[in-house]
Amino acid sequence: MKLLFISAVDKAEAWREAMLNELPELEFRVWPDEAEPRDDVDYALVWRPPHGLLKTYPNLKAILSLGAGIDGIVCDPELPRHLPIVRLVDHCLTDGMSEYVIYWVLHYHRHMGKYSRMVADGKWSNLPQHDTRLRRVGILGLGELGGNAARKLAALGFDVAGWSRSEKDIQGVTSFTGRDALKLFLARTEILVCLLPLTDKTAGIINAETIAQLPHGAFVINSARGGHVVDAELLAALNSGHLAGATLDVFHNEPPPPDHPFWSHPKVAVTPHMASLTVPHYAAEYIAMNIRRITAGEVPLNVVDLDKGY
Ligand code: GLV
Repeated sequence: MKLLFISAVDKAEAWREAMLNELPELEFRVWPDEAEPRDDVDYALVWRPPHGLLKTYPNLKAILSLGAGIDGIVCDPELPRHLPIVRLVDHCLTDGMSEYVIYWVLHYHRHMGKYSRMVADGKWSNLPQHDTRLRRVGILGLGELGGNAARKLAALGFDVAGWSRSEKDIQGVTSFTGRDALKLFLARTEILVCLLPLTDKTAGIINAETIAQLPHGAFVINSARGGHVVDAELLAALNSGHLAGATLDVFHNEPPPPDHPFWSHPKVAVTPHMASLTVPHYAAEYIAMNIRRITAGEVPLNVVDLDKGY
């Protein structure tokens, strides 16, 4: 059984160890492997593979994603669409993302940025403390990651709502669905978190029009994909004062160019696409479970629906 790893070469050894630990019989190959035959590779384990590459492996049984988001795979115009593409779902990735979201929600809710600046200036005073139960957090996307963050924020006492393609039943979380409800969802949201998959329906969803529907003084946290945000329109809303702050973990180009205003904007917190990192040890368990399912003739878990785009 052969698996081809198509990602940053410096990560290959950690993945080899983790995968062989789960599946000792696996032959783990690392791309680029130009001299090797291509017709004996069964699985491709990938993060943003070069366009046109996957179709040159004629006997693949599945494309296994190294990330939760698969936009970097399905954007390949020559993608072998008949193959199952399997999303990565693992508790480490999910918990890590919820921690990131909770950290920044609390940061804004408790004015931590303002306090840091005050203390740096030698000022000792207090800001009003908001009632958690009245603090309205809104999560765009209630899938594996958004659903977990929503549940945990609700457990902390926040007034949480989510907007998703299909209605979700999560305890303590108000569910909004469909384009018409987006307006209502935004109007009640003081801290907006984006955890949507990036598809042609969600690209640019954080734009001048949707931002204007948020209440004055709202915050935006984007840990999904840079493509969800229209940068210039987000900046305009921060500069006009309509938005009080934004935390961005993902960007159109990563890293953003050195002269991009996000780097130094006083209302923007930039993190280097670290909201949740895949830990090979845990992810390998899940990936191996899906390989075993495929070997046994079963359908793998979390197969991407190419019509939905996630
Ligand atoms: C990271 O961005 C992922 O998709 O897992």
